[in-house]
Amino acid sequence: MKEKIKALLDEIRGLNATRVEEVEALRIKFLSKKGEVSVLFNEFRNVANEEKREVGQLLNELKNEAQDKINSLKEHLSDAAGQTEKSDLTRSAEPIRLGTRHPLSLVKNEIVDIFSRIGFTIAEGPEIEDDWHVFSALNFAPEHPARDMQDTFFIEQNPDVVLRTHTSSVQTRVMTKQKPPIRMLFPGRVYRNEAISYRAHCFFHQVEGLYIDKDVSFADLKQALMYFAKEMFGESTEIRLRPSYFPFTEPSAEMDISCNLCGGKGCPFCKHTGWVEILGCGMVDPNVLENCGIDSKIYSGYAFGMGIERITNLKYQVKDLRMFSENDVRFLEQFKAAY
Ligand code: PHE
Repeated sequence: MKEKIKALLDEIRGLNATRVEEVEALRIKFLSKKGEVSVLFNEFRNVANEEKREVGQLLNELKNEAQDKINSLKEHLSDAAGQTEKSDLTRSAEPIRLGTRHPLSLVKNEIVDIFSRIGFTIAEGPEIEDDWHVFSALNFAPEHPARDMQDTFFIEQNPDVVLRTHTSSVQTRVMTKQKPPIRMLFPGRVYRNEAISYRAHCFFHQVEGLYIDKDVSFADLKQALMYFAKEMFGESTEIRLRPSYFPFTEPSAEMDISCNLCGGKGCPFCKHTGWVEILGCGMVDPNVLENCGIDSKIYSGYAFGMGIERITNLKYQVKDLRMFSENDVRFLEQFKAAY
């Protein structure tokens, strides 16, 4: 019996384990109900009386030592596991992915920056508007097609509530509150009820500009727009103004720039005309000034409005409008710029 205890003690002292599961297997082997230490305890009955005291002591020592050994193996392993997780200070950190500004924000900021250099400041207004600010104040006749369900998102319960179809509604808001001179830009999102495709979306972004003062002329408008076109697309850019119609400007025009891809020579992008349209503009209709409480005999003004998506397409040749709102990181990451 004593020899058996000694042999087991030696075996236990020499135990080693590299994984937690191994330690558990050892515990079962030695300390469980049918384990080797327990088996010896069972045999204790057969020990001669005069040896019981000595053997009993040895058995208890064996059991304690076995328990200590198993516990220390366990502790050692969990310590080691903790260390590999925490302490490799030389490991490089997880790379942090830097976000980039959205291309539409880049271009909006650039437009705002260019006009701010000639004195324009910014105002913003609500996207959910009423009919008066979007249409009536801006001289839209009651039966004007832009009010049609095809174009405008109405709130069914109340046709007076609309999603603004252009940022000209902010122009109305500013003119009713502020006295001229007004020299402001209105950037923002607008909504139109269009089928979504590569070249149309149900929402897009505009920047509108408004300048009202005494003696503002069409020549001032042309000068400001030419300055913008050259700043935005390069010194050699040319502009041309074509007569057009908007209810809120008279006279009205659309502005083309010489195609910045082919330099005006003609290419598929400009449909071989050498020109691409970028904005609408005109002299603020006296009716609009009067609707907003500005005396049209003293003041005159010009306004222009452009789609940010269109300018962005010209700058970066984005072929599909839907990419602007899909938030695909592979697309967005390509726009790393200073603005
Ligand atoms: N609001 C017009 C549009 O959405 C653009 C525009 C603004 C035209 C100002 C003239 C003057 O198409």
